[in-house]
Amino acid sequence: MERQKESNVQQKKGRRVILFPLPLQGHINPMLQLASILYSKGFSITIIHTNFNSPNPSNYPHFSFNSISESLWESEVSTEDTISLLTVLNDKCVVPFQDCLAKLISNGDQEEPVACLITDAIWHFAQTVADTLRLPRIVLRTSSISSFLAFSAFQILLEKGYLAEQDSQLEKPVTELPPLRVKDIPIIVTHDTRNFHQLISAVVSKTKACSGLIWNSFEDLEQTELTRLHKDFPIPMFPIGPFHKYCLASSSSLLSQDPSCISWLDKQAAKSVMYVSFGSIVIVNVTEFLEIAWGLANSRVPFLWVVRPGLVPGVEWLEPLPKGFLEMLDGRGHIVKWAPQQEVLAHPAVGGFWTHNGWNSTLESICEGVPMICQPCFGDQLVNARYASHVWRVGLHLERKFERREIETAIRRVTVEAEGQEMRERIMHLKEKLELSLLEAGSSYQSLERLVDHILSF
Ligand code: UDX
Repeated sequence: MERQKESNVQQKKGRRVILFPLPLQGHINPMLQLASILYSKGFSITIIHTNFNSPNPSNYPHFSFNSISESLWESEVSTEDTISLLTVLNDKCVVPFQDCLAKLISNGDQEEPVACLITDAIWHFAQTVADTLRLPRIVLRTSSISSFLAFSAFQILLEKGYLAEQDSQLEKPVTELPPLRVKDIPIIVTHDTRNFHQLISAVVSKTKACSGLIWNSFEDLEQTELTRLHKDFPIPMFPIGPFHKYCLASSSSLLSQDPSCISWLDKQAAKSVMYVSFGSIVIVNVTEFLEIAWGLANSRVPFLWVVRPGLVPGVEWLEPLPKGFLEMLDGRGHIVKWAPQQEVLAHPAVGGFWTHNGWNSTLESICEGVPMICQPCFGDQLVNARYASHVWRVGLHLERKFERREIETAIRRVTVEAEGQEMRERIMHLKEKLELSLLEAGSSYQSLERLVDHILSF
């Protein structure tokens, strides 16, 4: 038995996996976490990455890193129009990626043989490259299963006219995708809508052609959606999440995390603080920024607010705040540029998370049992927020418009009132299920074992 186990580890030690993350914070974190998980299972790891938003290799001395020169123009690197950026990246990376991958495969006699390629789902061109080089490609989809289900139904939604609905129809249910309403369809505003539809269609069709699909989610959370998706995607599925329970995301953070958050939280009462962060891409205008600030101040609830440089385009940091605003708070609020989010959410002083419902933030909140104020802005966030507030019932839904009175009321409902306590109880129950899924008999643990065997079978 022991000898058998040892020989399995030896077998894995002899295999290399190449991973290719999408260069956005919400995608880099789960891909590098997945790399660490596979490394802990005995695989050797190679990361191919773009020069744009490149990870820091010194945080991963046991991985080998290969950069490709995608040659983006200054005007192309803006995350203000994510769809344009993703379209350009998919276009410009083809040649350098294929060259790099071909070189790595032909180095097989000097290094361990390459078992497979794992890429972010958004890198749709990678399927053709992998096919050309006869390398199996596994896809990591970093979002929720529910939101991918919605993206994969886009063609039908287009044909049925849902995407052209008027404002008066926003509450209408999408009968093909319960529990979504028209306003929960994960659209992303871009200067050319055709780019968006082409990107989604390419991602969906190339995902269908891959050799396996990894999810940063767990079965108990999205079992129904997993079953529904499997009907259209008859490929092996591996819901092995949440990844960050295996390792922290701090080492893949592109911005440095301000440790003052923790010493400030140490001085606050248990479950009293509202933590506020809208992730790495969302932007707001000056009016919205001020509504957020006044909503927080007027709530009289202590708050920790992440104001990422770039959150308000054209503004350096806190300049729009009125004179005397910070002094008026008298220590009740703490504002930072970037926080150690997982540590913050795990801190006993945190009582609520006002989030845009990026998938990493949503999962991290569930992992720590912190009820949410859900304020989605675009794409998968809209679906995640709908599930958090109406299916799992662990969050309060706020509309995209920022209005100080609504904000103030929502903060108090989640942190002070009985409603928040009920959400906390439900999210603690989810947290328990999640922890069970990671134990030896649990679904995520078992899926990871299946994934390892799947990779070894190539
Ligand atoms: C993007 C999309 O916006 C999101 O909809 C999609 O699900 C993933 O890609 P992002 O907006 O950055 O992601 O949000 P999210 O998925 O929540 O990821 C943010 C990551 O940054 C989290 O892992 C979070 O822990 C980390 N973070 C955030 C910090 O480390 N510090 C912070 O201050 C804020």
